[in-house]
Amino acid sequence: MIVNTARFVTSSPSVDKCPDTQMHEYAFIGRSNVGKSSLINMLTGKKDLAMTSATPGKTMLINHFIVNDKWQIVDLPGYGYARRSKADRARLEDMIHNYILNRQQMTNLFLLIDGRHQPQIIDIEFMNWLGENGVPFSIVFTKLDKLTSTAARKATADYCAALLEYWDELPPVFRTSSVDRRGRNEILDYIEQLNQLPL
Ligand code: GTP
Ligand code: MG
Repeated sequence: MIVNTARFVTSSPSVDKCPDTQMHEYAFIGRSNVGKSSLINMLTGKKDLAMTSATPGKTMLINHFIVNDKWQIVDLPGYGYARRSKADRARLEDMIHNYILNRQQMTNLFLLIDGRHQPQIIDIEFMNWLGENGVPFSIVFTKLDKLTSTAARKATADYCAALLEYWDELPPVFRTSSVDRRGRNEILDYIEQLNQLPL
């Protein structure tokens, strides 16, 4: 898919305040600082579309972007950022859970995992919750430019093997870097396929 246009629509504090546009929508989620906003910029080819930051916890609202006037991207706040108050974490968790469970247009959730890390309990629990609730999702390994190509292959294969100890099959898996742009075509082609499905 060629991205011709991409623009910010709005930021919403809760799912019931999100725009009611009837378009396929793809949300990006994962731990704070995993690279969600950077991936969105990489996919759209607009480096300042979603706000990125070296400080975790930058994204606090549900941010909508529209691509090619046809489908939407959603940048969600990261989960599991320890340096927030308990009340703030609970509020963000509610916001994320409500969005995922109630947003009819959400066609697929891209769950980002830092490709350098071993499986973390918080991510596994989140994937189990997605599975229990029948949420369609894919796994996106990020920051693979930080590993050699051999190490990147091994780390992501080991991660998938660990998941297969819990599950019979894996969701679709993408290997990406927002720096060297690997994985971009694969994700955009996947979105293009899903855009053909009835909403
Ligand atoms: P929150 O909104 O705080 O949850 O973070 P986020 O997941 O949106 O992460 P963000 O895109 O802001 O990136 C966090 C940091 O990681 C920034 O310093 C980015 O420059 C860096 N980063 C993101 N993706 C990549 C990547 O693919 N490669 C490298 N080397 N750095 C990356
Ligand atoms: Mg962000």
